[in-house]
Amino acid sequence: MRTIDWVDGAVELVDQTLLPGECVTLRVHTVGELVAAIRRLAVRGAPALGVAGALGVVLADGDLAQIAALRAARPTAVNLAWGVDQAAAHLAGGRAAVLAAALRIRDDDIAACLAMGERGADLIEGDRLRIMTVCNTGGLAAVERGTALGVVQTLHERGRLAEVLVLETRPLLQGARLTTWELARMGAPHRLIADSAGPYLLAQGEVDAVLIGADRIAANGDTANKIGSYALALGAERAGVPFVVVAPESTIDPGTPSGEHIEIEDRGADEIVTIRGVRVAPEGTPALNPAFDVTPHDLISAIVTEQRVIRP
Ligand code: MRU
Repeated sequence: MRTIDWVDGAVELVDQTLLPGECVTLRVHTVGELVAAIRRLAVRGAPALGVAGALGVVLADGDLAQIAALRAARPTAVNLAWGVDQAAAHLAGGRAAVLAAALRIRDDDIAACLAMGERGADLIEGDRLRIMTVCNTGGLAAVERGTALGVVQTLHERGRLAEVLVLETRPLLQGARLTTWELARMGAPHRLIADSAGPYLLAQGEVDAVLIGADRIAANGDTANKIGSYALALGAERAGVPFVVVAPESTIDPGTPSGEHIEIEDRGADEIVTIRGVRVAPEGTPALNPAFDVTPHDLISAIVTEQRVIRP
């Protein structure tokens, strides 16, 4: 299954807000619809956003204001702007050239995820591996297979996976809703945990490696990823457990020198004071909702891309 693709002159994507209850595919024909889909996280995850950005430039048909709006739809994952820029570089060649560039980005993403899976599985030592992960970094976050969860899939295919501990990933539950769905489909053993249980279970010796994805990797290796990643990195360091980032080269942003320069998306109070539409805090409760955090590079054991393994 492809999470995002170009079908009959439109962007086709799996609406991730409806999973795991329903697996519904949307056809998006305009940049406005695509921006709305990105903002409400119908399509999400850095590599998928890169492909969405590139395909969206085809929908924009040369309209620079629409291209700018698409590029700014979400700020933290550099892949969105990267995908838009890659496709927009072909505007002078007309729609066919832009489409060809966007389809190359789609195909490159599929190949990159396969390569990251192999390289990551080669890197992690051990035979009955217990992996901890946060958010969703699987096929749903890319076109196919994904990044950190792609490594998990390769480990599982090689018979080296004992279990995945999946952080639920408040507030939008990408771990509880999406990662568990993907692991069940691949037949991989897993258990869901509350986000706050992560560092404790690391300290208890329940985990052999933490594998996460990335939304933006600064030039010095500082890495923005889903909120909760930094707590896992601290817990992993204290427990002596490898903390490995898996991301394509397109997530590395040489224009951002270090983590403090990364813009962190705040998604507003509603997602915190409610859970799936049910209010959990008193009416009017103020809230803070950073969607990502930054793990400093010295807490990262390795960054695995489709081309290389980067060490601190
Ligand atoms: O807010 P989201 O769901 O788009 O956040 C996604 C993540 O933080 C992922 O870990 C990251 O994009 C890498 S996906 C392979």
